[in-house]
Amino acid sequence: MTNVIVIGTQWGDEGKGKIVDWLSEKADLVVRFQGGHNAGHTLVIDGNVFKLSLLPSGIVRDNTVVLIGNGVVVDPFHLIREIKQLEEKNIKISPENLIISDAAFLILPIHQLVDEIREKNYGSKKLGTTGRGIGPAYEDKIGRRGLRICDFVNKDDFESKIKKIYDFHNIWLSAMSESKQNYEDVFHKIWSLGKKILPFTRPSWLIIDEYKNRFLNILFEGAQGTFLDIDHGTYPFVTSSNTVSSQAGIGSGAGPTLMNYTLGITKAYTTRVGSGPFPSEDHGENGIKLGKQGHEFGTVTGRQRRCGWFDTVLVKQAVALSSINGIAFTKLDVLDGFKDIKICIGYTLDGKIINYLPSSTLDQEKVKPVYEVMKGWEGSIVGIKKMDALPDEAKKYIKRIENLINCKIIMVSTSPERTDTIYLENPFSLV
Ligand code: GDP
Ligand code: IMO
Ligand code: MG
Repeated sequence: MTNVIVIGTQWGDEGKGKIVDWLSEKADLVVRFQGGHNAGHTLVIDGNVFKLSLLPSGIVRDNTVVLIGNGVVVDPFHLIREIKQLEEKNIKISPENLIISDAAFLILPIHQLVDEIREKNYGSKKLGTTGRGIGPAYEDKIGRRGLRICDFVNKDDFESKIKKIYDFHNIWLSAMSESKQNYEDVFHKIWSLGKKILPFTRPSWLIIDEYKNRFLNILFEGAQGTFLDIDHGTYPFVTSSNTVSSQAGIGSGAGPTLMNYTLGITKAYTTRVGSGPFPSEDHGENGIKLGKQGHEFGTVTGRQRRCGWFDTVLVKQAVALSSINGIAFTKLDVLDGFKDIKICIGYTLDGKIINYLPSSTLDQEKVKPVYEVMKGWEGSIVGIKKMDALPDEAKKYIKRIENLINCKIIMVSTSPERTDTIYLENPFSLV
């Protein structure tokens, strides 16, 4: 039995979906452990594109069971929609291959409304959320007034809990001179979804324990990225969950000794969608070129992603924060055609060199990148599957990054397609 955690090492959209999809061939169970439908994970299999937001990427495989862990926030309307969309693509979904934790919290329509109104009121200081109600739903969880999937079992109890949540948020909406939302308008619709959802539900920890006792392989699929982590990210420009590897256990019901390997997914350059500090952002031609060649538009919101150079300070910090064992290096082909490639190797803060991202937002906004420049390569590396077939400059770039982040690169991805990857090691065979 080997259990592997996959997490993003930057600000999300590193290509986790593609790598999880490939790895899931060896996994018996694929588990989401945080976030919700703010995630957008893209899989390309023989030209067919699948975009998953809430369901774990293993769902597209015939023999893989997927689990939405207790740490995930579930919008019941979205859940039903995503299941339907996949069924339309001939993916079979039943309680045999999809399990949802009964302790996962629900995202309600009022959470989405509060998310939107808050962003509107922040104006130019907005966080740039996905507008899916993720933050307000997690706040209600921590505020101990949240509604969980297991609450679908008793109508009166469900009604009194949903009323309490709506009353709480309506006080703020009224104070902001915004229209209130009545729980009565949504209660029956949501309650009726319970019938569809309950057959899929089980305690998440019990499933994990069952797989452990049967010596089966578990793959934990992270969403977002290290610097969107509520504790370790560029707060407050973060999501409302922990995205680092330690969350895999908390968000599914297991302890750290169950985990054998953490794979970090790292883009060969850097992107970010939404507001917040981004030291190696390139506002010039190169940033535009990276965005164009990398098709850097958000999977969930369609927003243009901000682009910049590879930041070794960030990724080295991510390697430490999640005790990462190896890296999958993605989208290297996007650097095709760059004469020079810059790598951020450190920062200066008020004229002093520092080699980590400081905690203060003001300092994060102030740090200036220190770059070294490497020579780019000629021609296209799209679809290359063997290290030997890469141009020398690309090999040198990989080696240099490995040295700077102090972690081994065990896969290099050269196109969105499942099979277009240089696989040097498989984490499931390493332990
Ligand atoms: P995730 O959120 O980490 O799963 O990443 P997304 O799916 O949001 O964004 C990554 C995008 O890059 C998707 O459109 C993928 O199909 C695409 N992609 C993944 N790996 C590669 C690669 O190696 N090269 C190129 N050109 N695109 C890739
Ligand atoms: P995947 O799993 C990139 C960003 C949003 C915003 C911040 C807070 O596809 O990598 P939220 O709606 O979560 O409250 O928004 O987090 N964000 C992501 N950025 N990839 C994601 O997921 C993201 N999920 C949230 O853009 O800046
Ligand atoms: Mg994404």
